[in-house]
Formats: sequence, C-alpha cells, structure tokens
Amino acid sequence: MRSRFTFLFRRKLKLQIITTSLTGGLVAGYIFSKYKPIVRAEADISVKIGERISTLPTYSMTEVAKHTTAEKVSLKYVVIPIYSSSSSAYFEDIGIPNRISISIFAKALIFSIGVFLGYWLAYKDGVYDITSYVENHPGGKMVLRSAGKALEACWKIFTMHDMDHVYEILEEYRIGNLPPGEREVNQREQEKITDLFQYDPERLNIKENFFVRSKRPFNAETKPSVLVSSFITPVEQFFVRNHMHVPFVNINEYKLEIGNGKSTHSLSFDDLTEKYQSHTITSTLACSGNRRGAMNNDEQGAIRGAPWYVGAIGNARWTGVRLRDVLQSLGLDKEGKYVQFYGLDCETPKRCYGGSIPIEKALSDDVLIAYEMNNESLTRDHGYPLRIIVPGSIGARSVKWVNRIVVSDKESDSPWQIFDYKLLPTSVKQPQKSDYDAAPAIQDLNVNSAICYPSSNEDGNKVKILSVQPNHNDIKNKKLTIKGYALSGGGKQIQNVQVSLDHGKTWLQAELEQLAEPHMRAWAWTLWTYHIPFDDLPSKPFDIICRATDTNANSQPESPVGIWNVLGHMNNAWHKITLQIDEKCLKKGS
Ligand code: MTE
Repeated sequence: MRSRFTFLFRRKLKLQIITTSLTGGLVAGYIFSKYKPIVRAEADISVKIGERISTLPTYSMTEVAKHTTAEKVSLKYVVIPIYSSSSSAYFEDIGIPNRISISIFAKALIFSIGVFLGYWLAYKDGVYDITSYVENHPGGKMVLRSAGKALEACWKIFTMHDMDHVYEILEEYRIGNLPPGEREVNQREQEKITDLFQYDPERLNIKENFFVRSKRPFNAETKPSVLVSSFITPVEQFFVRNHMHVPFVNINEYKLEIGNGKSTHSLSFDDLTEKYQSHTITSTLACSGNRRGAMNNDEQGAIRGAPWYVGAIGNARWTGVRLRDVLQSLGLDKEGKYVQFYGLDCETPKRCYGGSIPIEKALSDDVLIAYEMNNESLTRDHGYPLRIIVPGSIGARSVKWVNRIVVSDKESDSPWQIFDYKLLPTSVKQPQKSDYDAAPAIQDLNVNSAICYPSSNEDGNKVKILSVQPNHNDIKNKKLTIKGYALSGGGKQIQNVQVSLDHGKTWLQAELEQLAEPHMRAWAWTLWTYHIPFDDLPSKPFDIICRATDTNANSQPESPVGIWNVLGHMNNAWHKITLQIDEKCLKKGS
C-alpha cells in the first residue's frame, strides 16, 4: 500500500511539478510579453523624429493609452491549470480533503501583480516612454495631458514645440513603433480638437515689426531697428510673450480677488480704478530669455526655450494703482513673505499662469496693478484689463490678465515660479527636481546692452555678416551711426555704454539718451548712439562690440560660455555684430 502511495505520490508530484512549471511559465511568459523590459533608442538625430525604427517593438494605441500613471497599478491574471481534475483525485488518494484540492486546482488561479505603467505617448509612428522626463518638462506637468495619447493633438495647439531641440529630446525617450495604420487614425482624431487660440486677438503688421518665435502661443520679438527708433516702444511694436492663449475677458463680470488664503476681497475693475490714486512709471519690460539665441552652442549643448535675439524687450509708460496702496487698504501689508499673482490664462481651472515677488518689493513705491500702457487701455496681448508691473524685475513676474493676488508665507507654486524662470548652474544639462529646488526664482534683471542699428530685416541669430549701406546723413557726416539700448536691474542706473572695434582691447564711449531717474528707481532703459568716422572703418568685415556698466559697477561678461545655462536665462554677454560696409558709399563720403 505504502509503495503504491509512493508511486502515486511520485507520479502525481511529477504532474504537479509539470502543472506548476507550465502554469508558472505561461504566467511569466504572458507578463514578460506584456511588460517586457523596454529597449530605449539611443538619441540619434540622423533618425527623423517619429519615423519607424525596425529594431524596436510595436505597441498599439490601446497599449499606449494604458500608460497614464506613475502609480503602482495592481493587475490581476486568471490562470486555468492544465491538470486540475487528476490533481484533485491525487489529493483524495493521499487523504487530503477534497475542499483544498478544489480551491487550489479546480478553481482558476488568480495572480495579482503590481506594475508601474508610467507615461507613454505616441508621435507619428513612434511610441515614447516619457516617465523620467516629466519632471524636466519646461511646462511642468502640463505634458501629462498628452499621456496615453498621440502628441500631435497637443503640439497642434502649442506650436512652440516645433523646434529641433524639442524633437531631439523626445527621440531620447523612444521605446517603440505604432502598428501601420494607427498614425492615420490619430491624424483623423486631431481634426476634432478645440482650438484654444481661436479667440486670440488679431495682430497687425507682424512681419514689419516682429520676428515671430511661435504663433500658438503667440511669441514675437521686436525687430532691432524698431526698438531703437523711439525711447517709448509703441504698443503695436512691443514684444509679446504668451505661454498660453489670450483669455477673453468680459469687463462687467471681471473681478480681482485679493486675499491671504484665509479671507478674500473682491474688487471690480471700476472699484480698483476709482478707489485708488493712479500712478505712472516708465519702465522697461524684458524677458529673462532675451538674447537666449546667442547662448546656443554645439559644445555646451542646446538651450531650451525660444531662441530670442535682442528684441524680447520694450520700454513703456505704465499707469495703474500701486499694489502697496491696495494691500494697505485691505490690511494685507503686515503679513506674509511673498505676494503671488495669477492670470486668467489657464490650462485647467487649477493651472493658471502665475508668479510671485518678495513682500518688500511688493510694498515698494512703483509696483503697479496697471491698466494703461502708453496712455491707452492695455491691449489683450499685453494683459487687458489688468496686469502687474514689477519694474526692475524679469518680465515673467509682471503677470498679465491678473485676477488673483495672494499674500502668503510661500512663493507661488506655479511652474513658472518653481521651474521655468530659474537660473540653473552651467554644469546642469538635464535638470532634475533637486536642481530646480536648489535654485532661487530669478527676480531682478541684470545689466545688459545690445546693438540694434545697423541691423537686418532677417532674424539676427542667423545673420553672420551684415552688409551695410550707410544712410544719407552718415555719408554727409562721413560717420557710421551705431545705436542700441542698455538697462540694468533692480532700479540701478546705467553709468556708461562703450563700444569696441578691436575685440575689447580698446573701448570708446557712447552717448546716452538717458533720462535722469531717481536713485535706485531707474526702471527705464537708455538708448545710446556712437558715430564711427568712415576713416576708422576697415574695408573687410569687422566686429563691433558693446558693453554697459551700471552705477553699482556691474558690467557684462565677455562671452556667453561662462554664463551658459540650459534654460537660457539672463544672457548679458558683450553683444557683437559683424559688419561689411559698402565701399562705394565710403568713397562717396571721401
Ligand atoms: N502673464 C500671464 N498671465 N501669462 C504669460 O504668459 N508671460 C510673462 C509675463 N506675464 C505671461 C505673463 C513673461 S515671460 C513676460 S516676458 C511678460 O509677461 C511679457 O509681457 P508682454 O507680452 O506684455 O510683452
């Protein structure tokens, strides 16, 4: 009997081992095939973005659609064992209750495993796992709106992604291909997308005045020659920097909420303009990304963001009410360390453009809740009906379409405060959250200057040598006129602007058109001019450099190499242009 039992036991044990290994093998095989290790494509810029890569696996759009979470997801698998009935008999033979045999074998086995799905998306024929990129996306978690979907839908609206370096970054996260046909289906889906930008204002004379960096959102910089044609930049020639669509505001419904997180006051447009005294300042508004294009170089790597030349800057008269007066009247001037501002341009109800400034700055003389630019109501592109103007600080803190002001112990948690407008160290090429956490949000502008005339009608980043025909006046005076702007941050005045024709060995003093401004309240730029005698002009192409110094003796560095930062902020290196003068004109002058 014992030997029969032993025989049976051995036979059944074998069956059980086979059953278990087959079942285990099947489960492992299924799980492996479903969640097999992902083979990443090396970033290879010879591969065109989104093109099929034959060595990578294929994933359907249904598979991509599952990858919308970085949480651990519990997946259940049902496995029907092959030898369930005989296994049950065996247990009876050896005296183990049938109940157990049924619960283990006759019923299906249910496996539950936890997996990290991560964030996948598709672009053209490619599939990408962007889980590790999310933290680095300049627009923060906004990228997750595309998780599990085809990216074209989002990029059709946010056309600023149409840049080589963006494509290269995406290709680094390539894991596979879509099956044939899926791309076409995705394209049809895109037709249904609501266009957030359809209510953007009509913009006139764009080609004449601007280099457009992206249409949606609209980002356009003023051409250099336009910049120096007047001390006050006309509104229709003023650069525009929008991160999203332009919100449509019904002034009768508009309310400005001001509070401290515990209580909130609500002011209509009329309340604000009628109750408080108006105040006007002349202040330059400059984007911290101005001159970013010149930071791009092959050795240090591509810079993220729009490649502005020298025109993400303008100077205007701003009229509004002092932020200080409003905070004082509401009893909000004695608390908090920061004042946060939020605009009406929102991606989701909880995700609106925002920024903050220290309370000391907010309570200073000239920070405005502005309603006029150059004596006219703000235009929609520049923040109608109300915007903040923080003179001396980077443009990002001058929040447009402001509808919420919060006095708080904390900085704004908007991505434009905690990620985008930060100056990361030169060593950081692939910023991580810890890099952003370690860097303070940029506030004050730095000292800067640029040569704006002569200049070309073509994008300055692309002009290597500028061919110049001196104008009638210059020929008459036998001097070539050079013009530009200079400014500093935090209210510091420009002390001098110098130009050099020999790469910085000797310097010549330019004339400043500067208005005398109160100490530490020099918010406006200074235009400057230098006349080079024709006799001093080489016949070959030659470089002209400019450099400004402020009253605190801050000056500009020689090259952008030492101040390179991956987000391309605060480039204030010497500005250089290369000129080739039309010789015939020089002779006419002699
Ligand atoms: N405010 C809102 N609400 N949304 C924006 O996109 N852009 C900021 C700032 N305020 C922005 C904003 C940036 S980065 C700059 S440089 C200035 O607005 C540009 O102002 P402008 O478009 O009037 O020239």
